[in-house]
Amino acid sequence: MKRIVVGVSGASGMPYARHLLEELAARKDVEVHLVLSEGARRVLMREGRGPAELEAYAAARYDPADLGAAPASGSFPTAGMVIVPASATTAGKLAAGIADNLLLRAAYVHLKERRPLVVVLRETPLPAVTLEALLKLAHAGAVVLPASPGFYHDPRTIDDLLAFVTQRVLDHLGLEAPGPRWEG
Ligand SMILES: Cc1cc2nc3c(=O)[nH]c(=O)nc-3n(C[C@H](O)[C@H](O)[C@H](O)COP(=O)(O)O)c2cc1C
Repeated sequence: MKRIVVGVSGASGMPYARHLLEELAARKDVEVHLVLSEGARRVLMREGRGPAELEAYAAARYDPADLGAAPASGSFPTAGMVIVPASATTAGKLAAGIADNLLLRAAYVHLKERRPLVVVLRETPLPAVTLEALLKLAHAGAVVLPASPGFYHDPRTIDDLLAFVTQRVLDHLGLEAPGPRWEG
């Protein structure tokens, strides 16, 4: 069983989180451990039907304030983590080594244990402070994978665009990913 930590922070783009969670929940060999930040809970009231909509896909859900929960420790085995969507605040704090909520602590653990960590940033435009934070995260071993779908696969629906990002995230988590691929 592959245990994947999914952190959702307070950036716009909750459909990216829902699409990935739906895909992960459909797999028998994956167990999703979900942390929604306080920011995510606020955005979810605007971009969906609230936290319960995402929590339904997870095997385990955590209080973001619970720094004693399992994903806070490197001794809790996981196959990787994704932050989707990742706010500029979460990216900046993580790059600075700040782990003052469970989402950040779990992400910090993935960096220190050198496990896969995918950061699906959603912000535009990007100021120098955020660009520098992303560079630090890349140097620390994270995959910075902006929520920036391509258009070469001829997307017709929003779901097609979400699927593009989900496929790239799954690739970086080492999970088989469905969907069209560029074949030249
Ligand atoms: C409706 C809404 C949309 C937001 N969208 C973004 C966004 O796309 N990117 C971003 O970096 N911050 C965005 N924010 C601001 C973050 O939610 C805010 O900086 C928050 O402190 C992030 O905290 P967190 O990273 O702990 O979730 C948005 C806030 C609201 C209320």
